[in-house]
Amino acid sequence: MTSFDDEFDDDVAYDLVVRGGRVVTASDVIDCDIGVRDGRVVALAEHLDLGMREIDANGRYVTPGGVDGHCHLDQPTTDGSVSADDFESGTVSAACGGTTTVIPFAVQQAGMSLRESVQDYHARAEGKAVVDYAFHLIVNDPTEQVLGQELPALIKDGYTSFKIYMTYDDMKLNDHQILDVMAVARREGALCMVHAENADCITWLTDKLERAGMTQPEHHATSRPVPVEREATHRAITLSQLMDTPILIVHVSSGEAVEQIRWAQGRGLKIFGETCPQYLFLTEDDLRKPGFEGAKCLCSPPPRDKESQEVIWDALINGTFQVFSSDHAPTRYDDPKGKKIRGEEASFRYVPNGVPGIETRLPLLFSEGVLKGRIDINQFVALTSTNVAKMYGLHPRKGTIAVGADADLVIWDTGAPFRLDNARLHHNVDYTPYEGMELTAWPGVTVSRGEVVWSDGKPAGVPGHGRFLTCDTPDAARPKERFVSAFRPS
Ligand code: URP
Ligand code: ZN
Ligand code: ZN
Repeated sequence: MTSFDDEFDDDVAYDLVVRGGRVVTASDVIDCDIGVRDGRVVALAEHLDLGMREIDANGRYVTPGGVDGHCHLDQPTTDGSVSADDFESGTVSAACGGTTTVIPFAVQQAGMSLRESVQDYHARAEGKAVVDYAFHLIVNDPTEQVLGQELPALIKDGYTSFKIYMTYDDMKLNDHQILDVMAVARREGALCMVHAENADCITWLTDKLERAGMTQPEHHATSRPVPVEREATHRAITLSQLMDTPILIVHVSSGEAVEQIRWAQGRGLKIFGETCPQYLFLTEDDLRKPGFEGAKCLCSPPPRDKESQEVIWDALINGTFQVFSSDHAPTRYDDPKGKKIRGEEASFRYVPNGVPGIETRLPLLFSEGVLKGRIDINQFVALTSTNVAKMYGLHPRKGTIAVGADADLVIWDTGAPFRLDNARLHHNVDYTPYEGMELTAWPGVTVSRGEVVWSDGKPAGVPGHGRFLTCDTPDAARPKERFVSAFRPS
């Protein structure tokens, strides 16, 4: 990387030129230079004039910065555990793994209005992020005030997606409440994200398992078997159909849930799907690791079996899933405010759910998907960036490399195998569930709005560079003709 002194300012046409890369979008691969001014792409051409700063990308893939549409950063909890990553460590980690936009969740907190919860979440982010961020909402108490005033007003203000839960005692909504919030989404043009697992079945099974003394982390998977996910997925689809409003089923783990989504899409229903690395690379055997170690891979829905992994790959390849997210849930392992909050003898019921993965999401899919020939590089860009930006109303500012788009770029180093270990990651979590995996791709340089935030193996982002983004109406929540062409399954 070279830069030129200020005295040359008048002669240079660009703040930054990324030279000679293989520039990839969701549809094309083009060999060209990228000219950046004021944080945006202003030129794409075979040969551009000098930039104040130059990055040699000769022959290397250059993709749009990743958009992580599902991650948890500094999210308040109700069980006494703490989020290991705040907006600084979480976004540094994102940048080092090629992600330049994150969308974590402003959860509706007990004793606060939804608006106050959003304000509180802004305060947590203020001045800390090194890459740009938007917020989803989490609606866990849909009161008349929330449904009638707060949610519509927040949607108008650019918080155009929200998550609802069909499980977790402190979060779950019943079907009546789900219809209520879906009605607001339909009327106001928002996207409803659904965590689909049947709460009553899980509680019933958990009670029985605990009475039988089966409380080790592996029984987390026993308590949340595939039919529990399948039933809730089908029910969410039914509620969405009744309300004629689009939904995104998040973190899909099993073949039977995929079947439900595929069935609905085949009938023309507005059902979208998301999956995450944990369902491609972990199985329930990882929950059986010696001692309490299985807690490191405990998430909901749980990882399944090898056969499910193949179905999840197929669903990524054939367009059933539109987005690939991390569901980064940063809980430390060896920490009394982390996975061991009630000690190693405690029931799986009390282990905070979720696995870290904000930094490994792109490299895992590039190595195992693109470089092993399962998906092409355009699909990689669509799943990790373009479709996500479209899904949440951030496209074309985010999610593509085009004149006028923000200059969020990743220049890839590929080919040289290395073993992943937690020491190379920048999150504040003391483990990675992918420890020891052999990878062959990692970002060499990440650029956020024209500024280098990761290069030469070192984080280079400045806290406060990351800006809050308001979201437009998600493509999926627009009238049908727009929606069909935006995410046509293959
Ligand atoms: O286990 C998970 N997925 N934890 C994070 C919270 C959620 O449900 O997405
Ligand atoms: Zn969830
Ligand atoms: Zn999540």
